[in-house]
Amino acid sequence: MLVAGFPAGAFQANCYLLAPGPDRACVIVDPGEDAGAPLGRVVAEHGLTPAAILATHGHPDHVHAAADTARAYDVPVLIRSEDRRLLSMPWLGLNDELAAGLGDRPWPEPHTVRELGADGEPEPVLELAGLRIEALHTPGHTAGSTVFRLATGEGGQVALTGDTLLPGSAGRTDLPGGDRAALRRSLARLTATLPDGTVLLPGHGPSTTMGQEKTSNPWLAAEGRGTAELRYTGQGHPGQRYAGEPHAGEAHADNGHADNGHADNGHAGRGDTEECGGADRSGPARPPRGPAAAGERRS
Ligand SMILES: [Fe+2]
Repeated sequence: MLVAGFPAGAFQANCYLLAPGPDRACVIVDPGEDAGAPLGRVVAEHGLTPAAILATHGHPDHVHAAADTARAYDVPVLIRSEDRRLLSMPWLGLNDELAAGLGDRPWPEPHTVRELGADGEPEPVLELAGLRIEALHTPGHTAGSTVFRLATGEGGQVALTGDTLLPGSAGRTDLPGGDRAALRRSLARLTATLPDGTVLLPGHGPSTTMGQEKTSNPWLAAEGRGTAELRYTGQGHPGQRYAGEPHAGEAHADNGHADNGHADNGHAGRGDTEECGGADRSGPARPPRGPAAAGERRS
């Protein structure tokens, strides 16, 4: 299987392309801010033909370019029904401070949207671009957060976790649609069902594995212990606080990021870890990088 990816935009949200191989159809996952140009380069480099766009959730740093990309390749956007309205009204998923950073640009809904979970199949299995993709509903970061899980042709497992599960962390739950208890349940489910060897392609930061996260991610450790009383003693981030909650450390520097290479074993290639390691994330807040306005828009 071919896995390509790159961080884009002020928040360095990861955009991925998945295909059975070069010169084949592909799916695009989370085309966020400024993803259009690098997407075009990856598509051309590997001779790919986009078949669909998948959104792990509706926050604008993940779907900023969804409408333009859908139009450019004439493909549908697939997103959970709970998050669909965020495509055209992203401010509904943000607090006032973050929404103020959206600017005045229009947010047209993509010309074709398929709502996952709305047709009587709560967690559909998608047959797209020659890939079989399970769309797991993992609410918590947003109501419609989705983890896309698929098997590689080489026997591996890959899961695109969006902002539900991040390297060493998990998505924030303080924005509209967030639900901390639901996030805990979603993480518990992932912990119980994804094999340790599953390669995780998160919405921000470098790729990791389920086994790595089980041993280093305080959110998963908390789930494993079945307690909310865990006190994480590692280095925390200033800013947003989760009193009594596990706290994100710096657990992602050793893993490579998906790059524009082939992933014959299901593992994303090693990329620019300095760039990815500095990526802003939507988990427990990190100090803003870059323009102040960009930091305010973190979601
Ligand atoms: Fe998000």
